[in-house]
Amino acid sequence: MSAQSIQSILELRHTLADVRRAGRSIGLAPTMGALHSGHGRLIELARQHSDCVVVSIFVNPIQFNQRQDYDRYPRPLAEDLEFCSARGVDIVFAPSIEEMYPSPQLAFVDVTRVTEHLCGKFRPGHFRGVTTVVLKLFNIVQPDRAYFGEKDAQQLAAIRRMTVDFDLPVEIVEVPTVREDDGLALSSRNRHLSPLERQIAPALYRALQEAARLIASGLTDAQQVKAKAVATLHPFPQLQVEYFEIVNPVDMQPVERIDGPVRVAAAAWLGTTRLIDNILAGAFT
Ligand code: PAJ
Repeated sequence: MSAQSIQSILELRHTLADVRRAGRSIGLAPTMGALHSGHGRLIELARQHSDCVVVSIFVNPIQFNQRQDYDRYPRPLAEDLEFCSARGVDIVFAPSIEEMYPSPQLAFVDVTRVTEHLCGKFRPGHFRGVTTVVLKLFNIVQPDRAYFGEKDAQQLAAIRRMTVDFDLPVEIVEVPTVREDDGLALSSRNRHLSPLERQIAPALYRALQEAARLIASGLTDAQQVKAKAVATLHPFPQLQVEYFEIVNPVDMQPVERIDGPVRVAAAAWLGTTRLIDNILAGAFT
């Protein structure tokens, strides 16, 4: 069965009202399209839990802080529709910019603290754009559950906090990161990597794994862990580290001493492509 493609908020609301009236639960996987197996995993879980699976595809302009990144973001909509149909998605919601932002947005959701470090520091306004569009999507779809990837751990933490602080009646489901065989986290942006950059890219995950290994072996000084893990990247000068941090996994604040679970998170540039990744470490005993 092919997924039903809907562009209009009103039409989606009418369709989902019928679904809800029939007592069927709704699962939402918000995406920006250019779908890959990481998104596929979100869909798979939604398919297992929910009667009606909605995938939104919307390249959200207000979360991009570089015009060039927004312009070159891939938009293979026909392929994405096939991808969704093949995986049993019921509805693909793919609104236009005018549909989502008929007039310039004046109200925004700002989750403070959680968005202070990591990507929040280097992409001003990014998370405000994310949480704002996700709240809009929650209000449009009113899902029972919504699925987000651990790959974007700070985004997930901000959305969780928004959901708690605004008492949103939606269950947030975290989906583990899907990786290539060599460890590179799947990302829509990976298609911009040159063959050489693609070969170098998994070094970032290996550095995160090294940090997790050092933490598991008992090293508790975050600075030392960082220095040793980042040193593994020195053979790859093409990989320009933007940040490499060890943070509390709930509020995303950097820690100095590691005495419980932490998230090691990193961003790096390879040419004009920005990679992000993270790993959970510490205190699994
Ligand atoms: P996008 O980058 O398309 O990602 C959509 C969802 O897929 C996010 O929850 C992301 O964490 C998850 N995802 C991406 N790569 C993944 C991987 N390799 N393994 C597991 N999950 C993965 O994130 C966004 O879009 C946007 O910010 C959005 C939330 C849609 C708001 O515009």
